[in-house]
Amino acid sequence: MYLARGSEAVLGFIGGTGPEGRGLAVRLAIGGEDVAIGSRDAARAERAADEVRRHAPGARVTAGVNANVAERADVVFITVPFSSHAVTLSDLAGALDGKTVVDVVVPMEFRAGRAFPVEVEEGSASEQAQSILPGSAVVGAFHTTSAVDLLVPGRSLGSDVVVCADDLGAKRAVMRLAESIEGVRSVDGGALSNAAFVEGFTVLLMDVNRIYRAHSSIRIMGID
Ligand SMILES: NC(=O)c1ccc[n+]([C@@H]2O[C@H](COP(=O)([O-])OP(=O)(O)OC[C@H]3O[C@@H](n4cnc5c(N)ncnc54)[C@H](OP(=O)(O)O)[C@@H]3O)[C@@H](O)[C@H]2O)c1
Repeated sequence: MYLARGSEAVLGFIGGTGPEGRGLAVRLAIGGEDVAIGSRDAARAERAADEVRRHAPGARVTAGVNANVAERADVVFITVPFSSHAVTLSDLAGALDGKTVVDVVVPMEFRAGRAFPVEVEEGSASEQAQSILPGSAVVGAFHTTSAVDLLVPGRSLGSDVVVCADDLGAKRAVMRLAESIEGVRSVDGGALSNAAFVEGFTVLLMDVNRIYRAHSSIRIMGID
């Protein structure tokens, strides 16, 4: 079974040099997964991989350009800005065919220091990914998980990760994976179309962060 300690599966991170990709890679590498950091630039990927290795000594951490990582990885996380989401996925579509693709992307933009949602024709970034990648199992997850928290490896997150997907096997695998991060509870968020609500709520959290000078997350009550 992949996504388990000691398995041979590789988790790839497209745009893995940014804080969210690096943060997820650090936590999942600490949990025993093999990770591969992707970038448009091989040297930048290698520098980010070094940071992951420092936080997760003993983990198998590799690096490469995005196309190479997409080819080698079994499960591929998309952690690029929404402005480059569609073009990045289109470029990698062949390599991602038949794989689980975990879309972390929030369609938003900053104007005058505030986050605003960006309308997506398909309904959400995750559904846009699924329409570009019909042969992949797209899973929307980790939208509300702050990179700031992920990048402090000793810190227990104490928050939920809402996981949305139409492929039940891929969804369950990503829910298990999320719970390998200390303090994370996975919540089954239902169909991939529900990712729109999580992506939109994350824009609210961004404004809450601005108002409270915090990095907030979510915990859903009443489902224990
Ligand atoms: N930061 C958070 O706390 C957080 C939390 C939840 C979700 N997210 C979502 O996760 C995604 C990544 O967040 P982030 O803060 O890590 O973003 P980021 O730092 O702005 O970007 C991540 C990486 O994407 C690559 N990238 C930038 N522009 C690109 C382009 N035009 N084409 C292809 N690749 C490009 C860059 O890698 P290279 O230059 O090395 O190629 C960059 O390091 C975003 O969609 C965000 O909405 C972020």
